[in-house]
Amino acid sequence: MRLWDKGEPTDDLILRFCVGDDYLLDAALVPYDIRASIAHARMLHECGYLTAEDEHAIRDGLSKIGESFANGEWQITPADEDCHTAIENRLVEQIGEAGKRVHLGRSRNDQVLTAVRLWIRDALDFLAKDTESVASLLDELASRSADIPLPGYTHQQRAMPSSVALWARGFASELQDDADGLRLAKRRAQKNPLGSAAGYGPAQLALNRDITTKELGFEETQMPVTAAQLSRGKAEAEAVFAASLLAQDLGRLASDLCLFSTAEFGFVRLPSAFTTGSSIMPQKRNPDVFELVRAKSVVPQTDLQAILAITSKMTSGYHRDLQEIKRPLMNAIAVTRDLVTVMARAIPGIEFDRTRATEAMDDSLFATQRAYQLVVERGMSFRDAYRMVAEEFRDRGR
Ligand code: ARG
Repeated sequence: MRLWDKGEPTDDLILRFCVGDDYLLDAALVPYDIRASIAHARMLHECGYLTAEDEHAIRDGLSKIGESFANGEWQITPADEDCHTAIENRLVEQIGEAGKRVHLGRSRNDQVLTAVRLWIRDALDFLAKDTESVASLLDELASRSADIPLPGYTHQQRAMPSSVALWARGFASELQDDADGLRLAKRRAQKNPLGSAAGYGPAQLALNRDITTKELGFEETQMPVTAAQLSRGKAEAEAVFAASLLAQDLGRLASDLCLFSTAEFGFVRLPSAFTTGSSIMPQKRNPDVFELVRAKSVVPQTDLQAILAITSKMTSGYHRDLQEIKRPLMNAIAVTRDLVTVMARAIPGIEFDRTRATEAMDDSLFATQRAYQLVVERGMSFRDAYRMVAEEFRDRGR
């Protein structure tokens, strides 16, 4: 039964369109909506709107519903519309009268905001932790390749001497920074929207929203109530922006590895388990995994655009448009998590070829060093030293 059903006829095609994939995406929100509903019931009880017995029955009922969902015993169907409806209907089915009391002072509009924010907080923490593992794997690569030199490139032209360690530690450091960025991106998800109800508060009910703020580990109660719906999409955008920066670093790392593993460069050997063959050319070992990481690294960026576009120019208050933010949010985080997982698997297998890398360390890489030497040893100005070295290289036809 739809929560808003008033016994009037409905059109199935229209209903199905309005639900879209929400019933599938909401599977990720079930545990969070249950946590939030338990906190809400507790708040209702503490504010005198729910008896201790009813609160207990609700808490118990919701916990069981959460467990049975985790065990795969039920699913959200298109007829349920969303997780909020599915959970509340089940609660009434299972505990009867008390279940009908849980929706006092809230709306699905603040429920979805709350569940999504709890989801974002966890998703960013998990992603940050996994990102740090990739950073340490790169640090390990740096340590086990400590004495392998590598040309440093600008404009994809040989520039200055570098090393595998410097290359790898640069990425490790940026990934650590991305992990920090992911954690900081939780800021907007730390405000509790629950109890803002449809967007205008719980009318004359004397509810204490700080109770659910504390119970759910939010940092503050979002005030005033009208701010809550205006903020939908912003915590999402911030999370996906942080994921975009991470994905971009992984894409650039993958891009380097594609280049370094060509016959022309030959700096990196990819283990056969990470390469794929060609259906026509028997000799091929292709770096498809890194090409796909590079390609998919733009997904969070495009999802971010979608999120921003949906909310831009929308009038204030809740609109069903906002439902469409869920997919780009969840997709961006899922794809970024995949990239992190696959890079964590691949990096320990990467071997640099000392011989090829050393052969690539030609004189040109040391031109700047040579000019500095003239400054330090002969007291020349840098500009004169620069010209002198430039001439040496010109004479050599380089
Ligand atoms: N699935 C909806 C969403 O994500 C839940 C809120 C529904 N509220 C409403 N007034 N129709 O936005």
